[in-house]
Amino acid sequence: MHVIESMPKLRETIQNWRSADESIAFVPTMGNLHDGHICLVKEAKKVADRVVVSIFVNPTQFSPGEDFDAYPRTPEDDAEKLRMAGVDALFMPSVEVVYPENAKSFVEVPGLSDELCGKFRPGHFRGVATVVCKLFNMVLPDVALFGEKDWQQLTVIRRMVADLNMPLQIIGVPTVRETSGLAMSSRNAYLSAEEARLAAVLYQTLLAAKAALQAGNRNYAAIEQAQCERLSQDGFKVDYFAIRHSHDLLIPKPEDRDFAILVAARLGRARLIDNITLSL
Ligand code: PAF
Repeated sequence: MHVIESMPKLRETIQNWRSADESIAFVPTMGNLHDGHICLVKEAKKVADRVVVSIFVNPTQFSPGEDFDAYPRTPEDDAEKLRMAGVDALFMPSVEVVYPENAKSFVEVPGLSDELCGKFRPGHFRGVATVVCKLFNMVLPDVALFGEKDWQQLTVIRRMVADLNMPLQIIGVPTVRETSGLAMSSRNAYLSAEEARLAAVLYQTLLAAKAALQAGNRNYAAIEQAQCERLSQDGFKVDYFAIRHSHDLLIPKPEDRDFAILVAARLGRARLIDNITLSL
């Protein structure tokens, strides 16, 4: 596995593969890799000749006071996992490589970025869209893979790629869960053993809302309210519990059939997000 930190080296590696007519799949990450990330790599290997993974804890997607400094950084372990998974190149740029001095340009996807998590993390999706656009321009992949666990992020990225005519395919990969149902996430490291046990309730609330929709209940507000109350009773501080149209994240009309049920809630030090989608 090539471990690459500079742009010239990345360009040279990509150019060599392109000259040999090889296709490239890209998995952007912030490191502290778990089975969910390895699942993305496995899918990436199925769809292209070469797989590039990036590890970059992107400062512009963290608001002041968020966990940028505390975000778990485990580069040696990560590199070993990626080597074992058969990744061709690990790209680990510095902040200076990604954000050259005096960089002034940002990518914004208004509307979608201001909803749900955007309300609680102002500027977050601007930071995500910007860094993902930059990484696409650096790696020049044919296809990029993202976890469905961050459904809003995936939706914002799909929108950006379509709006800006970016020449690559985006693939969403289903969420990988612990046996308890808790979605795998680097931020689960912030949970105590007791909190990790309790955190499984998050997935239970999504399943309960799904069952209500499947049973024909279209009183979205009542379903959301019931699950918010359940989470609050279990000690979560709920940012939102929302039933939305799965493609545009708008509030669904009674006749809509494609749903995303999304939740964000704090437990102890951790802010957890999860979702499930369903088509009826
Ligand atoms: O999902 C993440 O890990 C990050 O938001 C991403 C897509 C790598 C951008 O920094």
